[in-house]
Amino acid sequence: MSRLAHGMLAGLDEIAEVGRDAARGGYSRHLWQGPDLELRAWFIERATRIGLDVETDRNGNLWAWWGEPGENAVVTGSHLDSVPGGGAYDGPLGVVSALDAVASLKGSGFQPSRPVAVVVFAEEEGSRFGVACLGSRLLTGAIDADRARSLVDRDGVTLAEAAGLAGLDPRRLGIDRAAIDRVGLFIELHVEQGRGLIDLQSPLAIASSILAHGRWRLTFAGQGNHAGATTMAERRDPMVAAAHAILAVTEAAVASPDSRATVGRLEVVPGGTNVIASRVIAWLDARAPSDRQTRDLVADIEVRIRLALAGTGCSLQITEESWSGLVTFDPTVAENLATALGGTPLMATGAGHDAGVLAALVPSAMVFVRNPTGVSHSPEEFAEAADCVAGVSALERMLRSVL
Ligand code: GLV
Ligand code: MN
Ligand code: MN
Repeated sequence: MSRLAHGMLAGLDEIAEVGRDAARGGYSRHLWQGPDLELRAWFIERATRIGLDVETDRNGNLWAWWGEPGENAVVTGSHLDSVPGGGAYDGPLGVVSALDAVASLKGSGFQPSRPVAVVVFAEEEGSRFGVACLGSRLLTGAIDADRARSLVDRDGVTLAEAAGLAGLDPRRLGIDRAAIDRVGLFIELHVEQGRGLIDLQSPLAIASSILAHGRWRLTFAGQGNHAGATTMAERRDPMVAAAHAILAVTEAAVASPDSRATVGRLEVVPGGTNVIASRVIAWLDARAPSDRQTRDLVADIEVRIRLALAGTGCSLQITEESWSGLVTFDPTVAENLATALGGTPLMATGAGHDAGVLAALVPSAMVFVRNPTGVSHSPEEFAEAADCVAGVSALERMLRSVL
């Protein structure tokens, strides 16, 4: 990563080696595991160095306050966790830019008229416990606390257990009115995750909306058996069922305008080369331009899969893991911020964000920084240094315009 002579965004360099994943490429930084703990410690040290006071809320989100925490605060930030084998920018760019913008405001002698905080949301990607934007969902009550406590990671550790190990009181996970009621405006800066800004030929854009999206767990059950002793006619192989299902997912999404559907994760039980699986779990991520269309897409996927299952001798169970309705960001806030930046374009996105969760309760906005590769959730995710600097400076201008 080539960084900048003048020290802006040096934070990205400081964390560049944390959580590198030699096997997958890119970074794997998952909630409260080694790299995430290291990043949290780095954030606390970094924020403290610029004179902010850091507190951890009941759900493991970090808040770094400029002066006294208080009502009607302007909050900016993003997340530090990653998908498995993710890029360097998804999340950290927003956190580092927020710290730099606030440091620059402080350094210039600016006196804010409202409280200001930089926030780091926990488990935005849902890579450890399966539910995207878990920290902001818990904070806002968008996920039931009992359900959240019982979520399990790939090693069978519950969120309640992991929270306890991280020093939180698991009984206090859940909606935190005191914390959310302080937020008067949330602004999240984020690397663009598709080709939107390449097409707009602009380094920056303000978000207008986020596709409706959700995650579903598809469990295919069959008969575990011997790969050599079981004739093809005798088999009930859930891998074959899952293969049909994955094709059906793509066919359904292609048939639904502007929709996307993905199976990016499979768990094969027991997972032996000479073993016909007994169970396969496939995680479905489905997105579309409206809540109705997303629901219809998933219903169509289910019909297609059930049809394809006939003859495989396998059963299917579908469980909804998370749901996020269409987000339309407050158009007045978005227009005002776009104007403060001198006419930055508005852009819709298909990627989910904590700002989308917060938008249900507080005015929220996002600014995207161009990604010249158009690739994200991958080591190829990128942002040019000049565009990152433009992002920090835009964030600083946006903060000035509301402070
Ligand atoms: C988060 O990046 C998502 O859109 O899944
Ligand atoms: Mn992401
Ligand atoms: Mn993100």
